[in-house]
Amino acid sequence: MVRHLLRDDDLNPAEQRQVLELAWRMKEDRFGVHPLAGPRSVAVIFDKPTLRTQLSFTLGVVELGGYPMVVDGNLAQIGVRESIADTARVIGRQAAAIVWRTYDQSRIEEMAQRSGVPVVNALTDQFHPCQVLADLLTVAEQHDGVEGLPGLTLGYLGDGANNMAHSYLLGGATAGMHVRIGTPAGRQPDPAILADAQRIAAVTGGSVLVTDDPAAAVAGADVVATDTWVSMGDQRAADEAEALFGPFRLDAARLAGAAPHAVVLHCLPAYRGKEITDEVIEGPQSVVFDEAENRLHAQKAVLTWLLERAGEG
Ligand code: NVA
Repeated sequence: MVRHLLRDDDLNPAEQRQVLELAWRMKEDRFGVHPLAGPRSVAVIFDKPTLRTQLSFTLGVVELGGYPMVVDGNLAQIGVRESIADTARVIGRQAAAIVWRTYDQSRIEEMAQRSGVPVVNALTDQFHPCQVLADLLTVAEQHDGVEGLPGLTLGYLGDGANNMAHSYLLGGATAGMHVRIGTPAGRQPDPAILADAQRIAAVTGGSVLVTDDPAAAVAGADVVATDTWVSMGDQRAADEAEALFGPFRLDAARLAGAAPHAVVLHCLPAYRGKEITDEVIEGPQSVVFDEAENRLHAQKAVLTWLLERAGEG
């Protein structure tokens, strides 16, 4: 059966560990693994803006020995000019895998149903699983390995209904972490996704908590994460975002409530003075550029892992 990474819980706890350990090894041996030798191609499609994701998937596919076919979603107009089902079958006949950044999760699910090759979610409105794998790799590096992840506490501040919050819930629970989402009432996570995270946490020994108290979200946390207050495709005005999320800004005073050894994550792009202060993102606890680099290693591992299971690696 062809496997995909459409949402974080497409990997069970053991599989997530395998991918993270593979990413760790591939970071140490960056040019030594070539599952795409041929070169075979990966279609990398963007319906939304990108910098890190285009960079890391393009370079990653090249480093795996393949050819990255970057497709501009504005030209392809998937689902408008041509149905998702037809597009999936056209690409699936030619590419070894499909990476897609798009809007609603239902779009990537339909792509995966029809493509016949692995599909990787490079961000949807609901999830950003590649980012959370990179984040987990970054945290593992601070704790001497992937086995250091279970039991750690991650406090997230900001929009609790966006892709990062949802992916921290699912991916963090899968890793056996205690995930706390600090977000205002009205921007709470999708209840179905929260329930999924709770079910996973019950098995892994992690936990999930949603609170409108930003201090409670970060108190004693090992990891503090935030994200933009206005995600791509979100029409929220800047002044509305400030009023809603201002109390959830990650500044030095808020960070002081976390554990002294806490590290700071931000998936970038960062809006300094909004969700995070310059002092914090440039400060000694920030690991955001390790995190950005780790997109490359995590995604190479995901592609390698999926291609092996598709019988093609
Ligand atoms: N929540 C952000 C993540 C950017 C990588 C967005 O969707 O715009």
